Amino acid sequence: MARDKIALIGSGMIGGTLAHMAGLKELGDIVLFDIAEGIPQGKALDIAESSPVDGFDSKLLGANDYSAIEGADVAIVTAGVPRKPGMSRDDLLGINLKVMEQVGAGIKKYAPNAFVICITNPLDAMVWALQKFSGLPRSHVVGMAGVLDSSRFRYFLADEFKVSVEDVTAFVLGGHGDSMVPLTRYSTVAGIPIPDLIKMGWTSKEKVEEIVQRTRDGGAEIVGLLKNGSAYYAPAASAISMAESYLKDKKRVLPCAAHLSGQYGVKDLYVGVPTVIGSGGVERIIEIDLNKAEQKNFDKSVASVRGLCEACAEIAPSLK
Ligand code: APR
Repeated sequence: MARDKIALIGSGMIGGTLAHMAGLKELGDIVLFDIAEGIPQGKALDIAESSPVDGFDSKLLGANDYSAIEGADVAIVTAGVPRKPGMSRDDLLGINLKVMEQVGAGIKKYAPNAFVICITNPLDAMVWALQKFSGLPRSHVVGMAGVLDSSRFRYFLADEFKVSVEDVTAFVLGGHGDSMVPLTRYSTVAGIPIPDLIKMGWTSKEKVEEIVQRTRDGGAEIVGLLKNGSAYYAPAASAISMAESYLKDKKRVLPCAAHLSGQYGVKDLYVGVPTVIGSGGVERIIEIDLNKAEQKNFDKSVASVRGLCEACAEIAPSLK
């Protein structure tokens, strides 16, 4: 059986890390694409030269022409400009929207059967635009944000509780970043919800609120430290877990920016919700009951995503 083919559109910091992780996990053959000449070729060769040491068999190819992604099973999109210090995700809107238009056309032409994972920010708007530009089925175009947000949340909680990260689960809804909605009552240590852990004296409400805020600001914290770039290890790991669930039909329950067509009362927007990802792409969207406070935060998050999509449609009227 031929190997799966993974196309990485954008070969910058996240793209290169994705290629390395996909190789180490032997997910398939990998094509790195970028408009910058030499970068995808150099990274592909460098990673290929590590494969004998690490013992993985993947073909790695770097390219500046979309024809190289032909027939890809998965496409992970990081093409665009990353956030610089002091720049909000939304400042990126105009620049990255143009990039999505080109990427959408390339995927439509050469990889119309791919499962597409968008990472480019501002995520919830970019994935919405990419789906429209590419014309691929909505079940096959998703945004990576929730896995990253919940991974950050899980890491901070595990650190607070002094337990393994493996035993902490976290549940987040809503848009990426400031408008993320963490659901503490569905976040647990070995099945014990956070409100119970507060009652048990493991932590305090204030400390959990601090952790929630740090999670919301997780991207900005890394930007502030790196000074000339944004996070790439955790975003890449998050997207790889989504790609793996699709390629291996694992049917993992993962929070993703998925297209809503009435779920949670939202129509034609991409918002972070729990999904089941398997060989059918986004096979299910899990709808849970929200309490008043959660609903209010979720509505706020949806409104901010809607605002961004409207701004996109102003710039590119074909999106209307
Ligand atoms: N087509 C293809 N590639 C492009 C295009 C385009 N039109 N425009 C830019 N690129 C490439 C750049 O040449 C660069 O190599 O996208 C790559 C982006 O890589 P980095 O600048 O290193 O950014 P990275 O840290 O990988 O983040 C990528 O993910 O999390 C988001 O906010 C982040 O939007 C950013 C994206």
